[in-house]
Amino acid sequence: MRSKLVVGNWKMNGSREANAALLDGILAGLDGTGADCAVCVPAPYLFQCEQLLAGSAVAWGAQDVATEPCGAFTGEVCAAMLRDFACRYVIVGHSERRAYHGESNALVARKAKAALDAGLTPIVCVGETLAQREAGETMAVVGAQLGAVLALLGPGAAAKIVLSYEPVWAIGTGKTATPAMAQEVHAALRAQLRDCNAESAENVQILYGGSMKPENARDLMAQPDIDGGLIGGAALKAADFLGIIRAVA
Ligand code: 13P
Repeated sequence: MRSKLVVGNWKMNGSREANAALLDGILAGLDGTGADCAVCVPAPYLFQCEQLLAGSAVAWGAQDVATEPCGAFTGEVCAAMLRDFACRYVIVGHSERRAYHGESNALVARKAKAALDAGLTPIVCVGETLAQREAGETMAVVGAQLGAVLALLGPGAAAKIVLSYEPVWAIGTGKTATPAMAQEVHAALRAQLRDCNAESAENVQILYGGSMKPENARDLMAQPDIDGGLIGGAALKAADFLGIIRAVA
């Protein structure tokens, strides 16, 4: 049986003061019910997360990772550094990185591999744009995005990822995929995982991301193949983040 997981993607938001207040609020409100949870924060704040969250029920992670293990790569942060700050997770292939940094499916696959090689769990993001959805290309697009990762990782490692379906048109727009729309894609992604590794496909957590809020989280997470959420805006308010964590039926 898969457990539910709710991950906050803070994106490029926060300050030491704001983070402390947000994390305090989350820790104060967690009551042991609801989903497992984590926050993926800007790299400069990983140390703060380690200090404030160690020993708590909240895991932490980063939002990107280098493909290379270490060396002359100015500006990059490698997976071993994330491990050094006790990260459990790292997001790879977020649509904002694909769009603004030209990250290809092949590059995202290499980032997922770098994370796994260092003992991190990559949260691999896939999702289609509105134009792609309207052209009927959703399954082909997300299939190719996941396919590149599975091809590089191989059947054994593929079971160790977390997958996140984030329709680009639903991110930060207030437009959420209906539970049925999201479930359709999640089921297709799981079928693709099954083709790669029938045994462990049932254990891979597939999160939904895109304008998830306390009000719509319950219906989304009640779908058989939706195992939690990757939360942007609503992860920046303790009450909203906690509301989503508690929305797990
Ligand atoms: P929003 O929840 O703000 O739509 O962002 C979703 C997202 O991109 C999470 O990675």
